[in-house]
Amino acid sequence: MAKVLTKYVCQSCGYVSPRWVGKCPNCSEWNTFVEEAPSPIRLSKKPTGAASKIEPVPMDQLDREDVPRVRTNIEEFDRVLGGGLVPGSLILLGGDPGIGKSTLMMQVALQLGNQIVLYITGEESVRQIKLRAERLEASATKNILLLAETNLDLILDVIERGTPDLIIVDSIQTMYRPGLESAPGSVSQVRESTALLLRLAKTRGIPIFVIGHVTKEGMIAGPRVIEHMVDTVLQFEGEAHYSYRILRALKNRFGSTNEIGIFEMHETGLREVKNPSEAFLSERRYGTSGSTVVSSIEGTRPILIEVQALVTPTSYGMPQRNTTGFDYRRLSLLLAVLEKRVGLHLGGYDVFVNIAGGVKIDEPAVDLGIATSITSSLRDVPVDSSCVAVGEIGLGGEIRTIGNIEKRVQEAAKLGFKRIVIPQNNVKGLKANGEIQIVGVDRIEKAMEELLG
Ligand code: TYD
Ligand code: MG
Repeated sequence: MAKVLTKYVCQSCGYVSPRWVGKCPNCSEWNTFVEEAPSPIRLSKKPTGAASKIEPVPMDQLDREDVPRVRTNIEEFDRVLGGGLVPGSLILLGGDPGIGKSTLMMQVALQLGNQIVLYITGEESVRQIKLRAERLEASATKNILLLAETNLDLILDVIERGTPDLIIVDSIQTMYRPGLESAPGSVSQVRESTALLLRLAKTRGIPIFVIGHVTKEGMIAGPRVIEHMVDTVLQFEGEAHYSYRILRALKNRFGSTNEIGIFEMHETGLREVKNPSEAFLSERRYGTSGSTVVSSIEGTRPILIEVQALVTPTSYGMPQRNTTGFDYRRLSLLLAVLEKRVGLHLGGYDVFVNIAGGVKIDEPAVDLGIATSITSSLRDVPVDSSCVAVGEIGLGGEIRTIGNIEKRVQEAAKLGFKRIVIPQNNVKGLKANGEIQIVGVDRIEKAMEELLG
């Protein structure tokens, strides 16, 4: 009898080892190896006789055809997908538990009107799904078919019998193929399940969404190993305590990965935020120190966001530095530049920085806004509230050139701001915009003068 060889598979990257090891030699993660039995079934047989019939196609014989897309009529969603759903595409939707993935998918299903959507759930009962739909104030429809099942072979049977226009699998980590011995959620199950769904999507031309949870390490658990198999990877993110949710495409074979969709979670589901700048600035208080409006590029869109800083004397121990929505190390760097170039003494102060609305910004163009907010709070002088500030700050205190300056200026002008402070080098070549005064600055000291007087 053949010896059954078990193998150990890293649950983080899929690396296979014959022995258990503590640290993965491939991805350096600890304690990620799980014993998995070798798969007793071959998932795809090698083509034998059929192989002689397949032919490559000369490229010029292919017509140029535009991919027909199905619009979901949720504009923010369609845009991230690159203009709608492509038939036969497999899309992974990742995100933290509780962020609203199931809600988003249900809203998409409800929007599709007379298309047949098969919603497969391994996480909730069909009643729970119905309750969610009721919460979304949608009337029950016969076009959404609910199936609470995790055995993919049975699910495939169901799909063979009817022809749905769209399939939603919630979530890939709960699905399993009975032929494989490892538990649902393990790398081999997730990978095989995805391979099966991929074949289904391609052969039947049905678009399929698979939902995947992100682990605490921030990567899509298991699904990290399927990112290369799917056509599109969408990430749904947001801060737990804020209602804004951002949908990003991390990979998209049918569109750009630059676009983002912004939603707000309400009692009755997700609502599109069509004018993010207005939404993010809606709670701004005028005349308080430590607040600056920056123009940040999210995807291809400029968004105006308020950055806040609070600088207070340290009452005991080490001064604290705390950030929300902004890189901590970048803050340390900006503080060092402010000490050295502007002469602020921050050694005896706690510094808190917060990007309003729970948004995360990682582009250096917000440096100037953050430095201004810090200086404003320390001196307790409010920043001119009709002014926007953008620019990257270099270690020498110079204000460095940034990209997309025209879009940023336009957005500020559109929202009625009177003045925008930008890097000096960005000024030339910029078309004068009658409504807004453009002020170029080359040094941080100069910028502080302009913004704080
Ligand atoms: P859910 O879609 O279940 O998250 P996920 O599938 O990503 O785990 O939504 C989770 C949260 O959203 C839940 O805490 C409740 C909240 N929620 C609302 O605030 N309003 C709503 O209309 C719905 C349906 C959910
Ligand atoms: Mg869910």
